[in-house]
Amino acid sequence: MAFATSTSTTFLFFLLLLPFSAVGQADDGRVEVGSSLTATKDGSPWLSPSGDFAFGFHPHADRFLVSIWFDKVPAQPLVWYLFDDGNPILAPAGSKIELTAENGLVLRDPRGQQLWRSDIATNEAAYGVMNDTGNFVVRSRNSNVLWQSFDHPTNTLLPTQTLEINGKLFSRLNENNFSQGRFQLSFQNDGNLVLNMVNLPTKFVYQDGPFYTSNTANGSNSGVRLIFNESGQVYVLRKNGLPSYVETGATLPTPTPDFYHRVTLDFDGVFSHYYYPKGSTRVRNWSTVWSLPENICSRMGQRGSGACGYNSICRLNDSRRPTCSCPPGFSLLDPDDKYGSCKPDVELDCREDGRVAMEDLYDTTVLLNTDWPGEINDYDLLQPYDEQDCRAACLRDCMCAVAILKDDSCWKKKLPLTNGREDGGFSGKAFIKFTKRNRTLPSLNLPNVDEENNKGTLITISTLLGTSMFINFALVGAFCLGFLSIYQKKLPKVEQVGLETNLQVFTHEELAEATNGFKEEPGRGAFGIVYKGTIGMSTVAVKKLDRAVRDGNWDKEFKTEINVIGQTHHKNLVRLLGFCQEKEQRLLVYEFLCNGTLADYLFRNAKPSWNQRTQIAKSIASGLLYLHEECSTQIIHCDIKPENILLDHNYNARISDFGLSKLLMMDQTQTKTGIRGTKGYVAPEWFRNMPVTAKVDVYSFGVLLLEIICCRRSVVVEETAGCTDGDSSILTYWAYDCFQEGTIDDLIGDDDMEARHDRKSLERWLMTALWCIQEDPCLRPTMRKVTQMLEGVVQVTIPPNPSPFTITVG
Ligand SMILES: *[C@@H]1O[C@H](CO)[C@@H](O)[C@H](O)[C@H]1NC(C)=O
Ligand SMILES: *[C@@H]1O[C@H](CO)[C@@H](O)[C@H](O)[C@H]1NC(C)=O
Ligand SMILES: *[C@@H]1O[C@H](CO)[C@@H](O)[C@H](O)[C@H]1NC(C)=O
Ligand SMILES: *[C@@H]1O[C@H](CO)[C@@H](O)[C@H](O)[C@H]1NC(C)=O
Ligand SMILES: *[C@@H]1O[C@H](CO)[C@@H](O)[C@H](O)[C@H]1NC(C)=O
Ligand SMILES: *[C@@H]1O[C@H](CO)[C@@H](O)[C@H](O)[C@H]1NC(C)=O
Ligand SMILES: *[C@@H]1O[C@H](CO)[C@@H](O)[C@H](O)[C@H]1NC(C)=O
Ligand SMILES: *[C@@H]1O[C@H](CO)[C@@H](O)[C@H](O)[C@H]1NC(C)=O
Repeated sequence: MAFATSTSTTFLFFLLLLPFSAVGQADDGRVEVGSSLTATKDGSPWLSPSGDFAFGFHPHADRFLVSIWFDKVPAQPLVWYLFDDGNPILAPAGSKIELTAENGLVLRDPRGQQLWRSDIATNEAAYGVMNDTGNFVVRSRNSNVLWQSFDHPTNTLLPTQTLEINGKLFSRLNENNFSQGRFQLSFQNDGNLVLNMVNLPTKFVYQDGPFYTSNTANGSNSGVRLIFNESGQVYVLRKNGLPSYVETGATLPTPTPDFYHRVTLDFDGVFSHYYYPKGSTRVRNWSTVWSLPENICSRMGQRGSGACGYNSICRLNDSRRPTCSCPPGFSLLDPDDKYGSCKPDVELDCREDGRVAMEDLYDTTVLLNTDWPGEINDYDLLQPYDEQDCRAACLRDCMCAVAILKDDSCWKKKLPLTNGREDGGFSGKAFIKFTKRNRTLPSLNLPNVDEENNKGTLITISTLLGTSMFINFALVGAFCLGFLSIYQKKLPKVEQVGLETNLQVFTHEELAEATNGFKEEPGRGAFGIVYKGTIGMSTVAVKKLDRAVRDGNWDKEFKTEINVIGQTHHKNLVRLLGFCQEKEQRLLVYEFLCNGTLADYLFRNAKPSWNQRTQIAKSIASGLLYLHEECSTQIIHCDIKPENILLDHNYNARISDFGLSKLLMMDQTQTKTGIRGTKGYVAPEWFRNMPVTAKVDVYSFGVLLLEIICCRRSVVVEETAGCTDGDSSILTYWAYDCFQEGTIDDLIGDDDMEARHDRKSLERWLMTALWCIQEDPCLRPTMRKVTQMLEGVVQVTIPPNPSPFTITVG
């Protein structure tokens, strides 16, 4: 910097202050043989006559790079650095670069070991020059060029520099790492200037799908070299002497000599012409004249990942720069490499195919205008398909990672995805499949099943999927052995089922973190407080059970019961994702459903439509049927009521809290009433000395069905002006009365036109409900029968009076 001034007095003044190492450079930029520079923090460089450029050691990482930089520009951007076979040559502190007659420039480490030398043909180097063009030149006595930095470009070209046949520019790996990156600009020997992708770490150059080509490869008039001329023009000079500009119509700042210019292949693959006003100390950035390619995200190619890594999505920002992001459910393979590949958080698993409803394992996120185009990504095309079909097709196909819908075409795509982009011009939708739960938790300490606290035993094979196949195999093997032996010893009852659950074991701490210290409390459920929380990508409901552990017996029961619940997979059941069993605490982690309870939905002011209500009723029936008959161990819910039915984002009904009543009301069976359930919904056999069967749920379902039909509570405590409508205060009685008297329209109200017009179904449903609430459990149909009655596939006969003995419930 001292040399920026041109007056010789100041020069002399500074000369006195200079360390010995820099002596040997005159103010014409000349460096005599025998001169050297040492790598220190505050060492002086060799400057060009104008002081614009400097040659010296530049600190990089914890070492030094021999480099050339703009000395007067803030941050002193490098235009060249010593680079060999894809890697910068990093010199430790104290290294020395010397100009010798025999070898030109020689770089040695502090112990005198040679790190690099310029290969000059003869051993007669006379002097070097740091030229004002930014070129460092080693010349012979008769001024022939023996070596020059312009012949060994890294990622930048300067005015007056050319790129000859086979010349290359290399992008950096990233902003801070100067190793060879993923892009290369080469002037090929066919005369074409081409911007290609590079495979790392092999450095293989993909000829396929170049980002840019100058199209100057035609034999008779092919390109000769790439020229960056003094006036700032960048062009391929052709054999006929005419230029082929890399970018036409770009406007250079004027007057050109008042600006520094450079063209750089940036680490993100964009090749740009930058300028910076000379003499300015205020401006902190470089402006762009042009940049290529026009859209780096729009690559088409059969090989390689594209501008971003595999599975990534490339977006072009306003300055034609790519930004990369992972699709939902994916994260960066290398968290420090924003431009790198993305991996699915949980790999798709075809081993679960058939055993589990895919809808239970996976969900999709929709991204607009996103595509991974090209046949290389596609394995299936379905036509004509609409949105719903396309989404479902991917969800149910364990191979499918993403489905793209455009017009009526549905493309199924597999991993890894390449050339991903978001592009406003593409008017399609991408359905990205992701695994609902973050199942990457403590997979590695699983096989260490400890007898005292059987934490690991409920976790399954699928939790292990994050690891490689080989490790999986080994772990599963070890795990199965350990698991079976323990269960054969301790819990023979569940030996055949334990392996099929997908439950994750959480620590109390993890759940405290997930729920932000048990803060957000969407509700108090039947058996405890429910907190909202976040685990990985998913929102969860964490239920803290009221009942504390009392004895070992209960603890055993807890495990057995949780194991049974964990095996249930049905679209109309709320999924149990995991649990926590620590000291006195028992917590259950469920998927979170966003649309509240059926009670809120049914009894609020605006009535849901008849169609929605019938869908909900059928869903509940289907879920109950599953619990009673289709899952491996029969589960009697015992507490069916609208508060225990939750609605997901599509308003699908999902039964919650199943399997808990047995566990949590166990001690109540010894009490006087022994009733499990809620007033208004409990079957009469609870009050009598009768065996309790699945028919208690049928009864509760019947009451619920009436509520769904009528949109009112089964027991209404009328508070309006002391006027109690005795007839209608108990829904079950009133419904039967209306049915008998043929006034069923009264049940649904005047505003429910949809239901009125669907009178046949309405009647059938009412009769079904009345069959369900028969006092005699034997008269009640099974849930299988109920679903058939609701669907209308069996005839529904006229029900008898449900309560012939008129026992008042509650
Ligand atoms: C710098 O390079 C230019 C172009 O090659 C040349 O004309 C000029 O003489 C050089 N300056 C020095 C000081 O060598
Ligand atoms: C740059 O990246 C390469 C390849 O990943 C690595 O070997 C090297 O250590 C990195 N250098 C620095 C300075 O981080
Ligand atoms: C070569 O020239 C022909 C005819 O002018 C043209 O069609 C073709 O695209 C050119 N090829 C390249 C690589 O420039
Ligand atoms: C640079 O190239 C442009 C376009 O070919 C030309 O007009 C201009 O004269 C050139 N400048 C120099 C200094 O050669
Ligand atoms: C560069 O600086 C100019 C002036 O300060 C500013 O207008 C411009 O937006 C900056 N460009 C970038 C890319 O930051
Ligand atoms: C575009 O992205 C680059 C790199 O992420 C960033 O430096 C630049 O500021 C962005 N430009 C705009 C206009 O957003
Ligand atoms: C899954 O869990 C791990 C460990 O807790 C976490 O690092 C990761 O970010 C989670 N993944 C997602 C998608 O949230
Ligand atoms: C129910 O879900 C839909 C779709 O996600 C949403 O728009 C609506 O606001 C939700 N309603 C409630 C009450 O949360």
